[in-house]
Amino acid sequence: MKVAIIGTGYVGLTTAVVLAYLNHDVTAVDKDKSKLDLLHEGQSPIHEPGLQSLLEEVQHTMRFTPNVAEAVPDAELILIAVGTPPKKNGEADTRHVEQAAKEVAEVCLPEKHYTLVVKSTVPIGTNQKVAEVVENVFSARGIQGNVSVASNPEFLQEGLALQGAFYPDRIVVGAHSEEAIDTLRRLYQPILEQTFDSPSTLPRPAAYHLPPMMTTDPNSAEMIKYAANTFLALKISFINEIAGLCEEVGADVTEVARGIGLDSRIGNRFLQAGLGWGGSCYPKDTAALLGVAAQSGYEMPITEAARTINFRQRERIIEKLRGVLKTLKGKTIGILGLAFKPNTDDIREAPSLDIIRELVAEGATVRAHDPIAIENARRALNGKALSANSELHFTEDIDKLAYDADALVLVTEWDLYHKLELRRLAKQMKTPILIDGRNVYSPQEAKAAGFHYIGIGRI
Ligand code: UDX
Repeated sequence: MKVAIIGTGYVGLTTAVVLAYLNHDVTAVDKDKSKLDLLHEGQSPIHEPGLQSLLEEVQHTMRFTPNVAEAVPDAELILIAVGTPPKKNGEADTRHVEQAAKEVAEVCLPEKHYTLVVKSTVPIGTNQKVAEVVENVFSARGIQGNVSVASNPEFLQEGLALQGAFYPDRIVVGAHSEEAIDTLRRLYQPILEQTFDSPSTLPRPAAYHLPPMMTTDPNSAEMIKYAANTFLALKISFINEIAGLCEEVGADVTEVARGIGLDSRIGNRFLQAGLGWGGSCYPKDTAALLGVAAQSGYEMPITEAARTINFRQRERIIEKLRGVLKTLKGKTIGILGLAFKPNTDDIREAPSLDIIRELVAEGATVRAHDPIAIENARRALNGKALSANSELHFTEDIDKLAYDADALVLVTEWDLYHKLELRRLAKQMKTPILIDGRNVYSPQEAKAAGFHYIGIGRI
């Protein structure tokens, strides 16, 4: 199928590469010249496990262009995967989605049928808006267009984007048009029936079942995306709230999570207490959902509380440090992990940023390490967020991080940090304190290695 994809961010690029691998004829459009230059050279602009090698494999079958007119007229299906950044009040800004729809409608051929799919995460009702934008352009052009608009929310998890695309739990399609539903079913047929040969680096999981394609109305499809993300966000916030109480009463939240997770109605996933969620989705989507609710004068106290608890986790880390070090002024703190989660260089809304800003504001010297996100963090933090004479250093050497430091804070649970030589690190530090923001180590193990260990919700 001839497919045009507008936007080559995490969602757009992953989708483009996966569809090309499934033998669709894909043209990806992006206005960002630097991204296009990289893509033309076969380089992925984002760090996502497996994406670079898959891109190299399918690159010769794909086209990348800044020009919708080169991608859209011939296509049967057009996917909009542009960003919906938060506005000041938290609502998602759909300007880029509407602009993309306008540009698409300007180059659609009269009479030819197109399925225009919104993959970006958008407020409920955006499909309708997109259909209106398209109709307005057609009437301005004085042509009879034939475009069916559909919603196809994306559940991409960074670090696992390709697994999620090849082996999804479900595919959700919201559309009124049978033709659009049929086109999307044909697009995803290799995935729905798992008829493709798995890429060598991404074998089909042993217990994987064929995914259902759920069809519904566009508003419900748009709501499914927000509701799914908010539910996962509040599951994590719930266990973090319990973790705080575990600390008060002397219980171990990892044991509690194990115990409740064994109840199949609850399930054991997304119950890892720690520094909470960051990234480009949960913070933005929970805020956007509250924005949608506010417009209807509807209150969502559970969602509000999930956000409060989440951001409180960052403050609690600082409180734990103050608790053991008395003052942070003049202290040297090593930060292990900058990315908002492992296997990505994405630092958007990462807990590390807030923690570092606060430590520096309180007069501490901060040394920060990350396997791949240092450059992104440097850009984010060296701006106006920190004062000119702030004491922030980045290092690629964990020994340098620990040397003579007053405390280490484990912020991101990279694999590398699961295998630290604790005993050696403890010996190099001024005071061997480990604040384990992701409960990577057992308190016994860390204590045996010489650390004063403080986890999240543990005795
Ligand atoms: C999420 C959703 O998983 C995905 O379906 C949606 O499309 C976009 O938002 P992502 O933001 O990439 O994806 O990351 P995810 O793996 O869900 O983790 C989000 C955050 O929650 C991370 O900061 C992670 O560290 C944190 N987390 C996750 C926990 O603190 N505890 C957990 O048990 C799980």
